[in-house]
Amino acid sequence: MDKLNKKLINIKKRLTRLEKDDKSSSGVYQYLQDELHLYLDSEYDTTDAEKFIIGSFWKKAYKKYKDGGYITNDEYISKVRFDYERIILEDKLDRFCKNSKRALDIGCGNGRYTKEFAKRFDAVVGIDLSKKQIKQNKKDNKQTNIIYLNEDFIESKNNTLGKFDFIFVGDIFMYTNDKDVEKVFASLINLLDENGILIIRESSMDVGYENYKSKNYVAYYRNKEFYKKGIFKENFFKSYKNCGYNLYDLNKYFDVFKDEKIKIENNPMKLDKVVDKFIPKTTRTSYFYLYKV
Ligand SMILES: C[S@@+](CC[C@H](N)C(=O)[O-])C[C@H]1O[C@@H](n2cnc3c(N)ncnc32)[C@H](O)[C@@H]1O
Repeated sequence: MDKLNKKLINIKKRLTRLEKDDKSSSGVYQYLQDELHLYLDSEYDTTDAEKFIIGSFWKKAYKKYKDGGYITNDEYISKVRFDYERIILEDKLDRFCKNSKRALDIGCGNGRYTKEFAKRFDAVVGIDLSKKQIKQNKKDNKQTNIIYLNEDFIESKNNTLGKFDFIFVGDIFMYTNDKDVEKVFASLINLLDENGILIIRESSMDVGYENYKSKNYVAYYRNKEFYKKGIFKENFFKSYKNCGYNLYDLNKYFDVFKDEKIKIENNPMKLDKVVDKFIPKTTRTSYFYLYKV
């Protein structure tokens, strides 16, 4: 790691210490925050520091939110989003993944999808960089065909994992710097067995793109077209909008159309129409991207 990235990681650690000591309003805190932003917003390569910030964020997220994986305390959003995404995934697996031997869930979080996949696959591996969450998953695990691993997928060599018939990636590229995207996608394709499929769920933009970098969070909200061209093109099959993600923006709609809240809970796929009609295309959303070998 170069000197600059070491320095930025050190700044982030000092900021965290000041927050713990309740000194976030001090001049030193402000100075360090500005210094960090100056470099994060610059043309310097700050990848290592960004990874450190993302790691710190996820370490806290599972403690701070009732649903750390979706970063929300709202039980309705958490339930309905999961139901919606599960229906989409089940449909794609029924259609495109006849071989149900081995599945890999990368960025598995609390293992909600890992557990679902374990019902139809002989063996499932769940990987996440959150040590805390993986420890919890192992403790709670009742399904003998699941193995949980605490790893940073972007950094790991993956050469001991074997091949998979299905790989699900629940938001990893949004934390992957442009320069690592090719390497990460190639290693995913490499892990697929013959006729295997890969589904990537990523926070994306319909219009434009957004790079978000703060001292607490770093994310690359890329345009949906990004995941269809370049390295992705040869294996790309189809994309599906993930309207479950837009539940965070639908609160105004539920204020006006109260009954719809229950109707959507009973049939989450109704979200497709509502999001299309009421949420502007410029609002951040999410997509499932399906790839085949
Ligand atoms: C948005 S959460 C989604 C969790 C889960 N897939 C779900 O949908 O409930 C993203 C997860 O990816 C994990 N993650 C982020 N970067 C990762 C990486 N490089 N390797 C492994 N896990 C990573 C985070 O720790 C976090 O649990």
